[in-house]
Amino acid sequence: MKQQKTLPATAANVRRVARHLRAGGIAAFPTETVYGLGALFSDERAVCRVFEVKRRPSFDPLIVHVASLAQARALWKEVPPAAEKLMKKFWPGPLSIVLPKAGGVPDVVTSGLDTVAVRMPDHPAALALIRISGPLAAPSANYFGYTSPTEAAPVAEDFGKKVPFVLDGGPSRVGVESTVVKVEAGRVVLLRPGGVTVEEMERVLGSRVRTAAKTGKMESPGRLKSHYAPSAPLVLMEGPAALFVKKLRAWSLRRARRPRLALIVFSGNGFEACYDLFAVRAALSPKGDFYEAASLLFQVMRKIDKMKPDAILAEPFPEKGLGRAIADRLRKASGGKKGWRSFTHIFRER
Ligand code: TXA
Ligand code: MG
Repeated sequence: MKQQKTLPATAANVRRVARHLRAGGIAAFPTETVYGLGALFSDERAVCRVFEVKRRPSFDPLIVHVASLAQARALWKEVPPAAEKLMKKFWPGPLSIVLPKAGGVPDVVTSGLDTVAVRMPDHPAALALIRISGPLAAPSANYFGYTSPTEAAPVAEDFGKKVPFVLDGGPSRVGVESTVVKVEAGRVVLLRPGGVTVEEMERVLGSRVRTAAKTGKMESPGRLKSHYAPSAPLVLMEGPAALFVKKLRAWSLRRARRPRLALIVFSGNGFEACYDLFAVRAALSPKGDFYEAASLLFQVMRKIDKMKPDAILAEPFPEKGLGRAIADRLRKASGGKKGWRSFTHIFRER
C-alpha cells in the first residue's frame, strides 16, 4: 500500500477496514476515549507491526478491544464477580479490566504477562468494526510517550502511509484514555486513572478501589513518570495562582527577550490578569466542567505544541472524579517538572 487513506466511518468503509485487518493489516480507528491503532489480537505479526510503527517498547502490553461480552469472556480464564459488576455497569465505556488470560491470547499482546486488559469501547464505528473483524489489540494511535490523538487528522499526520487506513469517526467524546483496573483476589486495583472515575466504581462495587502500591515493579507502564508528553517542556504550576502570576510578571520584565510561553488552565479563574504574558493560552473549561476539560486536553496540547512555545505552564487539576485522570496526564506530560524553580531552570539552560 503506497498511500494512506482517511475514511469516514460509513458502513461500507468499516467493512473495508475490517477486511484489511482480517488480512493481517493494521489500521487506526476511533473510540470514545482516544484513537486506537489496531491489529487482530490473534495475529502475532500484525501485533508486532503495531509495536514497531508506534515505536513502543515490547514490555508495554496492549488492551484488547471487544464488541460483546462473549468476546471478552473468551479472552480471560475466568471472570470474578467484581469484574462482572464493572462490565455490566460501565461497558461499553472507558474502562479496561485486567484479568488472568485464556490460552489463546498471544504473549506479544500482553508483553509476556499472564494477564490481559480488555475493554469494550463506546463508539458505534469501533463496535461495528470489531463485530466484523473480531477482537482488536490496540494502543492509542500515537508515537510512544507522545500525546494521544482525539481526532483522525493527527493520526494521519503522525504516521503517514505506515498506517494504511485511518477510520474517521469524529472527535473522541471522552478525550482521556480508559481507566485501567486489575481485579485480584476479589479486590479492584487502579492501575491508571481514566474516563471512569474511582468514585463511580466504588459506588457500584460498594467497596474501596485500591491504588496500585508504588512497588517499583512496572504494573502498568502507563504509570511511567514521563508519558503523554508534548515536545515543549511542560511545567506544572504550584501554589496560589495570584502568586505565580506575580512572579512570572516580575521575571518577564527583567528579561531582555520575552520567551514564547503557553498556558493551560482549567477554568481560567485567577489567571485572566496574566494572559498578556502568554503567546498561546487555553482555558479547558471556562465553566469548570471536568468532562469538557478532559475532552479538550490532548487536542489543546497538540495545538499548543504546533506553535512551538519555549515552555508550557499548566495548572494542576484537583485529584477527584475525572480530575484525577486529567491531573495524571498533565503530571506525566510534565515529566515531574513543577513549581517556579523548574520553570526558571528551563531558561537558564539556554
Ligand atoms: O482508552 C484507551 O485505553 C485507549 C483506546 C485506544 O482504547 N488505549 C490506550 O492504550 O490508551 P495504551 O496502549 O496507550 O495504554 C494501555 C495501558 C498501558 O498503560 C498498559 O501498560 C496497560 O494499559 N496494560 C495493558 N495490558 C495490561 C496488563 N495485562 N496488565 C497491566 N497493565 C496493562
Ligand atoms: Mg497510550
